[in-house]
Amino acid sequence: MIMGRVLVNRLVALAAAVAACGAASVAQAEDGYKLWLRYAPLQGEALAHVRGLPRVVYADPDPTVALAGAELARGLADLRGESSRPGVVVTASRLARPLPPNSLSLDCHDPSQPTGGAFAVSPANGGLRVVAAEPVGCLYGAFALLRELSLGRDPATINLAERPAMPLRMLDHWDNPDGKVERGYAGRSIFDWWKLPEHLDERLVDYARADASIGLNGAVVNNVNASPLFLTDRYLPKLKRVADAWRPYGIRLYISVRFSAPHEIGGLATADPLDPAVQAWWKARADALYAAIPDFGGFLVKANSEGEPGPQDYHRSHADGANALARAVGPRGVVIWRAFVYSAEDKTDRAMQAYNEFVPLDGKFDANVIVQVKNGPIDFQPREPFHPLFGAMPHTRLMFEGQITKEYLGQATHLVYLAPYWKEALDADTGRGGTVAQVIAPAGMAGVANTGSDRDWSGSHFNQANWYAFGRLAWNPNLSSEQIAREWAAQTFSRDPAFLAKVVTLMIGSRQAVVNYMTPLGLAHQMATGHHYGPGPWVCDLKRPEWNPCYYAKADKAGIGFDRTAGGSNALAQYAPSVAARWSDPRLMDEDYLLWFHHVPWDFRLRSGSTLWADLVGRYDRGVAQVDQMARMWAGQAAYVDAERFADVSDDLRIQAREARWWRDASIAYWQSLNGLPLPAGTRPPEHPLEYYKSLQFPDAPG
Ligand code: GCU
Repeated sequence: MIMGRVLVNRLVALAAAVAACGAASVAQAEDGYKLWLRYAPLQGEALAHVRGLPRVVYADPDPTVALAGAELARGLADLRGESSRPGVVVTASRLARPLPPNSLSLDCHDPSQPTGGAFAVSPANGGLRVVAAEPVGCLYGAFALLRELSLGRDPATINLAERPAMPLRMLDHWDNPDGKVERGYAGRSIFDWWKLPEHLDERLVDYARADASIGLNGAVVNNVNASPLFLTDRYLPKLKRVADAWRPYGIRLYISVRFSAPHEIGGLATADPLDPAVQAWWKARADALYAAIPDFGGFLVKANSEGEPGPQDYHRSHADGANALARAVGPRGVVIWRAFVYSAEDKTDRAMQAYNEFVPLDGKFDANVIVQVKNGPIDFQPREPFHPLFGAMPHTRLMFEGQITKEYLGQATHLVYLAPYWKEALDADTGRGGTVAQVIAPAGMAGVANTGSDRDWSGSHFNQANWYAFGRLAWNPNLSSEQIAREWAAQTFSRDPAFLAKVVTLMIGSRQAVVNYMTPLGLAHQMATGHHYGPGPWVCDLKRPEWNPCYYAKADKAGIGFDRTAGGSNALAQYAPSVAARWSDPRLMDEDYLLWFHHVPWDFRLRSGSTLWADLVGRYDRGVAQVDQMARMWAGQAAYVDAERFADVSDDLRIQAREARWWRDASIAYWQSLNGLPLPAGTRPPEHPLEYYKSLQFPDAPG
């Protein structure tokens, strides 16, 4: 039999690692399936601390508390290096008072504690006590305790009191019923609807456990470009089986719905939201879902966007559509209505359309409607200013939508750590009475998931960090990107301080690197249309203008950039005056957003004194150099990571280094074809002529 290339590579990498480090120090090969929940054995003083902890965990029979107890017992045994000797979980219907001495106790029904998933962990009676008002608080507390111990904290100093910053902390899966994942780069869907309800893949349980470990509490199981199948009777038992499996982990199930379903599968003549028969149809579907799944979360809706049906097809507003569904769901759940709308007919700047559509509807949505807004006004670009809707709808609950799957940021293979990216939006002051994180606090955050059937779940080991970071930020948006990176890397790879110093630096810089080699200085949407992977700044012939990269750069012989000042589209005016003022003068503003808001000549002088052209080229070069530096940093970490994952990451970095050059070269070649300017002295010319980059085709691109 011919040995697969991957296997050969692995063996070669393993042999190299053995030779480099000596067999004894090579960690056991890992495939990434365990994510950050490896609970690798502690060493030294930290090991002595956990060995000193009691082995008896007191829990009660609630399924969630039982899970928390089992997680603690198992996690502690792993941290002690004694996986074969898990502790004992004593389940009692009531926790004895006073607390049993020398135990870990889960005290999960304490009415004096705050609700909503809050917990406290503190030393008690020779052991540790996790206390919460509800079982799910105990589960979060158990995971938090294990995280602290995993990071080497002395249990005697652990004193946690946490509550989530927002009620809804969700993942949105863009998974189709046939198993294909839209914009998914990690294999096929984790949901096998064909085999459900009889067969439930264990992966779905592991998934819920991973979500719960970072505080996530909801998941939309299907694509926003929704198949009506999920509203059929045939899917009820399938959905129920998944919801039942997730319930003990505190994960509520939601579905995306197709607005035209009453017509398409309900046999009605219309899907007009004001039609009583349509309303009755939605009510009956909601009732059927709640009969099967009493804690069903609700509906997510993409309406009148990118060809999806919606209320405007019946001359009704988004509020009419959302409220019709919200009344069907009633107080049992929510309707999450997406603000990601832009239309083929509307000739206004695409970046302005959602605001124009939704601000007039502020105050018109029912109380159980949440409007979900992407982080920026276009579409998950490597850098966008925060969405102007945040802060502009004070009478509507707004939810933040981020994309964990990196559709526009190198997809599976580029190492890009997204916490700094999301925090840029979350920390932004809207100028309208708070930061974005404060605006969304009454609702929540949803991340477009990057999970799939790949053994490593996310298409690459470092992509797991983005899943982790999204959950941690939804729990607490005030955590720093560095802290999240450090905890993730320590749990996922190695706690060694020398390793962490390097890897955290690498992760933190990775976002600016991708901005530099793809879309520096506020450029956006320069990816080739369709797959959104490689560069396509020259594309300008698609029927819908806003699907062309040239729409966003507006480059010609004289200059480059989208004029969004009063002289142009005036998108700036959608921001609060204090925010607009920050971005209105191209000579004074943060140059990271320059070409997003301004069209400037190629010889425009930046604050550094260099011309726009020289600076732009310099940024592409910096992006390439940053990726090379990331690869060098990683190359030095072989001693800390098992050979399999080390080789996987090394391979990805090689791809990224090649493709960063591709991005740089193709972009520079194209801009030069417009401006005719020579390259700044000492600059390496693109490797190939522009025609070469234009000719590249990727019919095999995933996603
Ligand atoms: C992007 C993405 C689509 C997706 C859409 C959405 O445009 O490319 O695949 O459907 O966002 O968020 O609805």
